Order: sequence, then structure tokens, then C-alpha cells
Amino acid sequence: MYANDIDLHAQGASTFIDDMPEPAGLLHVCPVVSGIAHGLIESVDLNDALACPGVVTILLAKDIPGGNNIGNVEAGEVLLAEQEVVYQGQPVAVVVAESDAVARQAAGLVRICYKELPAVFDARAAHAQGLHIAPPRIFSLGDVDQAWQDCDVIVEGSAASGAQEHVYLETQVAVAYPLENDGLKVFSATQSPGMVQRVIARVLDCAMNRVEVDVLRLGGAFGGKEEQATGWAAMAALAAVRLQKPVKVRLNRGEDMRWTGKRHPYDSDFKIGLDKTGRILAYEVCFYQNAGAVADLSLAILERTLFHVSNSYFIPNVRATAISCRTHLPPNTAFRGFGGPQAMFALEAAIFKAAAAMHVDPAHIQRRNLLQECQPFPYGMPAENCRAQRCWQQLHDRFDLPRRQQAIDRFNAGHSLEKKALALMPICFGISFTATFLNQASALVHVYADGSVSVSCGAVEMGQGVKEKIRQVAARALSIDKARVKVESTNTARIANMSPTAASVGADLNGQATLLACQRILQGLKTVAARLAGGEPEQISIEQEQVCLNGQPTATGWNKLVSEAYLSRTPLSAHAHYATPKVFFDRSREQGRPFAYHVYGCAAVEVAVDCLRGTYRVTDVSIVHDGGRSLAPDVDRGQVEGGVVQGLGWMTLEEVRHDGQGRLLTDSLTAYKIPDLYFAPDIAVEFLDGDNPAAVMHSKAVGEPPLMYGIGGYFALVKAIRAFNPDWQPGFSAPMTPEKVLLALYECGC
Ligand code: MTE
Ligand code: HPA
Ligand code: MOS
Repeated sequence: MYANDIDLHAQGASTFIDDMPEPAGLLHVCPVVSGIAHGLIESVDLNDALACPGVVTILLAKDIPGGNNIGNVEAGEVLLAEQEVVYQGQPVAVVVAESDAVARQAAGLVRICYKELPAVFDARAAHAQGLHIAPPRIFSLGDVDQAWQDCDVIVEGSAASGAQEHVYLETQVAVAYPLENDGLKVFSATQSPGMVQRVIARVLDCAMNRVEVDVLRLGGAFGGKEEQATGWAAMAALAAVRLQKPVKVRLNRGEDMRWTGKRHPYDSDFKIGLDKTGRILAYEVCFYQNAGAVADLSLAILERTLFHVSNSYFIPNVRATAISCRTHLPPNTAFRGFGGPQAMFALEAAIFKAAAAMHVDPAHIQRRNLLQECQPFPYGMPAENCRAQRCWQQLHDRFDLPRRQQAIDRFNAGHSLEKKALALMPICFGISFTATFLNQASALVHVYADGSVSVSCGAVEMGQGVKEKIRQVAARALSIDKARVKVESTNTARIANMSPTAASVGADLNGQATLLACQRILQGLKTVAARLAGGEPEQISIEQEQVCLNGQPTATGWNKLVSEAYLSRTPLSAHAHYATPKVFFDRSREQGRPFAYHVYGCAAVEVAVDCLRGTYRVTDVSIVHDGGRSLAPDVDRGQVEGGVVQGLGWMTLEEVRHDGQGRLLTDSLTAYKIPDLYFAPDIAVEFLDGDNPAAVMHSKAVGEPPLMYGIGGYFALVKAIRAFNPDWQPGFSAPMTPEKVLLALYECGC
């Protein structure tokens, strides 16, 4: 029986790159990184490091045979800094040694002299100095300036959401093996094997077909390995080719936390106008994104922020400005939600402030403005198959929210030192890569002569269960037992030009390609079956491993059919390509149809605050989530639960801090607090089923959207604090850590 990843994990039998047996002669790499945030490199002294026994060589930018560039946007995205360093933790040199310990020790002996330059770490400060990654972008709908005149209530304010460290269990790692004929095979913990292949070819100045990248699975990624796994793999590749020995690079937890980028912190200014019934008439917002030192994925993330500016609400007049600000922090990068959560947090802050001004519950305004079928998003696309209202209503009905609110009110009236609150968080997330060209995938399916099946595609397994979903697609498409289907490692020699596994579309894109390939094989099999059963191919179907003629089972089973196909020289392998239809976006007009569809949902987040100590618990999260026809219901449930907890962590616990020189202070899991099993609330998820013609077998993407339910945790805490200290005016600065809760409980309303 072929076990899935989940079973292997449970048995401790799944292997990761660091579990692979180390070949004889394996060399180890330790990067030497910048110890300052901004400066010019005056000299690099390698002598002490080179004198260390066991050090083989130390590579610098000048040793790169091809392009010193690992990004896709700007020239500054270098593998190794040559003249200027732009963040603490930026690689400058690569120590190659016979052991990991020697490489690390020698790296500490490399002396770099700098001429220090001024550094900036805050997005608004960078903006004030004109430090931008690109010119601002503006999305607009209706006429905001005109609309203010019709508003009964207008409030203005600011919101800030913090960075978030990915804390994938498996830290950044890669092993590169030199092969004959100038070839190279690289095992990399990346979400983007295609990009790693392309960048290594660029760095080495060789053809892409010389570089094979293979990914079996990742120990978590959450966006942190979409772009930022590439550099480490390129270092291993550079050293392996140079020395003609296998080379491994693996960061430890502290290095990984200090040297890699995080979720982008955002500062936002908002202005919102409503009529007296609570209808939002106008919303104006400006986002200042802290991009870090170089572009990385910041501009794509900023674009997704704009796409989610109005979340699951219809706002007739919107103007949203988005500015990517260049600071001297490690380049911030993809993180589950990809800029969407930051936009949604700002809007919920605006709604909260408006509700306080109107003396109504925020839920009143949320409910009043929920998207309805065919209402447009600010980028021109109408909401089709809109589930915003259904999710909200079903949440209220199934989880008896009015009764729970009454119970909370009663509790608060009877308790002076403990307060509870419930906040609602509706979500709407666009599904597709916003870069249209990435919405393609291919699959290669083999049926072996014994009836077993092998699927290769571009999906990377990172714990999100995509391989299980691909197996399900192949098993259903061929109508065979899932146990017959194996999903292979993700490999650039089998699948070319693959998009990253990201944007929650791993199963959508690769599942569709797999389905098409299976259908192609099935066509040939039906011709064989028709011959065996004495009918026409159109009369044939395969049902539960049995050939059927006009729906009636015949004597021929799957094994016999496959073996007959083989003997009659019928193709049992197929390759197929899928490109999401109908998606486009015109950046000159900021209008289009960027998404294949949207995922909706609504959560109720309940908290209890100890008003003496400032400690709190998220006690309960109830969710109605728009799930489509699931390919793997348990996987989807796990994704929703995990996403919520990760979102709650971002909003309440996880605080990334730097000192005044841009050095990360929270570089261990004792200083950086993430949610654990004891933190996790009771989570009840009800899936809204239904058709989704826009994705494979009517399923729906699930990976990222649930993270945004966590935003409800912030506002539930704010409500509970105000139940104790009604004069407190929230500043909307997340995360709402226990320290901040305690201060807010006793802050006066000045
Ligand atoms: N779930 C687990 N367990 N581990 C992960 O790294 N990444 C998330 C999400 N769920 C992640 C996860 C992110 S950021 C994305 S984009 C999707 O999974 C990617 O996988 P999918 O496209 O197959 O949903
Ligand atoms: N989401 C996630 N990753 C991406 C995207 C996106 O929209 N575009 C490019 N990389
Ligand atoms: Mo997910 S942030 O698109 O890897």
C-alpha cells in the first residue's frame, strides 16, 4: 500500500533533505553575512578563515561565472554583495569546508571592513526620504472626492500591522551534486524548483537543461521558500561546480530568522465615510509597505494588497494608494495571504473606528456592506458566485451567534475583572497568481504495465496536502483505487517551466493538468476496452476499476485492460498542460479579471481577557468556510485550522523586533512567541459546499484564505478591553500582545 505524506509523517518515516545520507566527500557551506545594515565594503580579509584546518575555499562575488543576480525585478538582488551591503545578514562570502562546524567557525573569522552609511528601518521614514522600490500604484472605483459630501459620518485614522516570521520547521537547506558533462543536480527546499533552476543557470552561466532541481517535500514554507530558498541553493551550486564535489548548505534556526525576510509590516492611513444607516460610501487608504532592502516579491505582494482593499465588502467609491518603501532590513517576502491580510486589517480598523463613532457594533457595518452577487471589486471584476452573504448568514444560524452575544453581555455585566468579546471576520480572497503568466501548469502521467500509476507535476508538497489532492484527482479521473497512484518528487527534468507552488493554486493548476493527462490516457484505454468488450469507445466507461459497456460491468478489470493496452502498443503515458482561462489584467488601467474565482468565508472569534493581568485566551473560533467540493476534506479542515491559528499568532503574539542598527532581537523561539497547542482555541469549521466550475473537479483553493480569520482575534481583544476601559481609543497597531493589552486596560482616554 502506497502511504501518503500524512501517514509517513505520523510514522516519522518521511524524509527531508537533511535526512538524506551524506555522500563521501560532501562539503559544507556557511555564508559570511553583513554585520551592518548599510555601508560600503572597504576590504574583505580571508586570511584567518582560510588558515582554518578543513577550509577548502572561500568564494566572493568575483568568483561567480555568470550573473550575480537571484531576483526577478532589480539589479540589486545579488547573490553576494560586492561593493555595498544593504541589510544585516546579507551574504558577502561563502566559506566551503569539510564540515559544517569548521565552515561556521571559519565564517566567523572573515574580517569585513565597511564605511557605514545611514540606514532606515521604518516604511514611513523611508518614504519621507524618497526611498521606494517602484512608483506608487493607485486603484480607484467611483468618485471618492465627490462621495464625502454625501456621508453622515467620516472618520480618519491609521493602522499598522507587523512582520511575521515563517517558522517553517525545516530551515533553509540545499544540496548540490556535480554530474558528468558539466551537469548539476540540486535538492533544494524550495516552493519554486523552476525558479531555482533558472537562477542557478544564470549564476553559473549555463543552459537550464544542465541543472536538474528536485524537491521531495518541504517541512513547511508558508511563502518563505517561494523566493528566498533560491540564494542558498545557488551558493551550493556555485561551490559544487567550482570544486566538483557535492556541497550542502543548511541554516540553523537563528541564522534563518536573522538572514531571511518576513511578512511585510504595513503602515496605513485611512479615511472612511458612511451614511447614517451604516452603508460605506467612500474609503480612501494609503499603504506604506516595508519592503526591506531589495524588491524580492514586494511589488506582487503590494498588488495583492490593492486587490484586497475592500475585502468582502462592496464600497462604491474607493481610492487606494500603495507605496513600496525601501528600508535596510532583509527583503520581506511572501507569507500566507501575500499582502491581502494587511489590506483587510486596515479596513477592519476603519470599520471599527466608524462603528465607535456611530455607537454601533462593528458587525452592524460589516453586515450592511457585505458583497452581493455581481457587485464590482475596485479592479473592475464583478463578484460571481458570491458567497459573502451566505457565509455570514450560515455562521449566525449554525453557531447561534445572537445567543452567544447575549451570554457574553451577561458575563461582562456580572464580572468586573474578566471581560469577553466576540468579533466577526468575513473574508474574500482572489484565487490565481496576480501575474497572469504564472497561471499555468503541466503534468506527466505514466500507467505502468502492472496497473500502477505515477504522476509528476509542478506542485511542491509543504504540508498542505497537495500530493494527496493530486492523487485523488488521478484516482478519480481513472476510476481506480487511490492506493495505485504515486505522486513523484517535483523535478525540473520531468516538468519544465513550473510556476511556484503558491497563491493557493497548487492543486487547482497541477490538478487540472493531471486530470487532462489522465483523460488523454483514458481515451486510448477506452479504444482497447471497446475492442475487448465488443462496443464503441463512446459506450465504454471505467467504474471502480471495472470496464463497463453502456454502464454495465464487463469481465475486464483495470489490470487486464492495462496489460492489453500495453500488448497492443497503446500509449500509457501522457503529458498535459493547463492554463487558467479568462484571467487578464491591464496594469495601465488597473482593471481586469485577475482571478479565476474568489473564496469566501466568515469567522466568529471569541476571547476572554483577564483585566488584572492583561493575559487573554482566544476561547473559540467558529467558521463557515466556502469550500467547494473538496478533494480531501480532512486536508482542507487542517488548512483552515492551521491558517486561523497562524493568523491569530500574527495578530496577537508574534512580534518581530530589531535594535536601532537593524539587528533582529527576536531571533529565537524564546524571544519570538508563536502560538502552540495550548494557545490554540476550539475551532469549529463548517464548509459551505457547492459547485465551482472554475477549479478542478469543482474543488476550491484553501491554503491562504483562512489565515485572515485571525484578524478577528485582534478586534475581539479590542472589544474586550473596551468593555473594561470604555475610554480607551485603540491605535490599531498589531500584534495585540499581552503587554499591549495590559497597558490598554489601564490607559486613560486622553
Ligand atoms: N500549509 C502547510 N502545512 N505548510 C505550508 O507551508 N503554505 C501555505 C498554504 N498552507 C503552507 C500551508 C501557503 S503560503 C500557500 S500559498 C499554500 O499552502 C500553497 O499550497 P497550495 O497552493 O497547494 O494550497
Ligand atoms: N501569490 C503568491 N505568489 C505569487 C503571486 C501571487 O499572486 N504572484 C507571484 N508570486
Ligand atoms: Mo503562499 S504566500 O502564496 O506561498
